[in-house]
Amino acid sequence: MELTKAIKDRRSVRKFTDYYVTDEELNEAMEAARVAPSWANTQCSEFLALRDKEKIKELVENCYPKNPSTACSLDASLVIVACYNRKKSGFYKETSFNDVGTWGMFDLGLACQNMMLKLHDLGLGSVVVGAYDSKKASEILDIKGDIQIAAIIPVGKPAVETRPVPRKELSELLHIDKIK
Ligand SMILES: Cc1cc2nc3c(=O)[nH]c(=O)nc-3n(C[C@H](O)[C@H](O)[C@H](O)COP(=O)(O)O)c2cc1C
Repeated sequence: MELTKAIKDRRSVRKFTDYYVTDEELNEAMEAARVAPSWANTQCSEFLALRDKEKIKELVENCYPKNPSTACSLDASLVIVACYNRKKSGFYKETSFNDVGTWGMFDLGLACQNMMLKLHDLGLGSVVVGAYDSKKASEILDIKGDIQIAAIIPVGKPAVETRPVPRKELSELLHIDKIK
C-alpha cells in the first residue's frame, strides 16, 4: 500500500471478524516495529504477543470493562502488549539526559505506529488501548523490573467500515517560528 494512503486511511478498529491473525502477519508487523528509530538506537521497546484466550480475558476483564475496546479485545486472536524498558531511552551514562519526559514512551509510540501501519497494510485493524489499570495488568502478565507496560493493542480483521474522526486543521497545530 502506498505510504500516504496507509497513513491517511488507518483507523482505530474496535470490532473484529473471527479471522485468526497468523504468526506470519504478526512477524511482519513486528518487523516494522523493529526498525523504528529510538534514542541512540537503544531499542527499548518490548512486545508481548498474547494468544492465550484465558490470559486475554483476565487482562481485559480485570482492567476496564467500560472501555470501548473491551469487547473487541475479548474477541481478538492476537493482543499485543506494548512495553518499554524504563532504563534505556533518554539516558546518558545512567543519568537522565534532559527533562523532556519519558523518551521510552516516545520510542515505543514510534514503533507502535510502524506496527499499526503495517497491520493496516496487511488488511488488519488495531486500536491502542491506554485506559486500563497498568498495575493490575503488570501483575496479570507478570511484567516487572525495568519493564513498563504501556499500551494494550488488540488486532484483527475489521468487521465494520471505519469512518474518519475529526482532526484539527493544520493551521491549528503547525506554528511557524513561534507558538502563540
Ligand atoms: C495513547 C492512546 C490511548 C488510547 N486509548 C484508547 C482506549 O483506551 N480505548 C479506545 O477505545 N481507544 C483508545 N485510543 C484510540 C483513540 O481513541 C483513537 O486513536 C482516536 O480517537 C483517533 O481515531 P483513529 O485512530 O481512528 O484515527 C487510544 C489512542 C492512543 C494514541
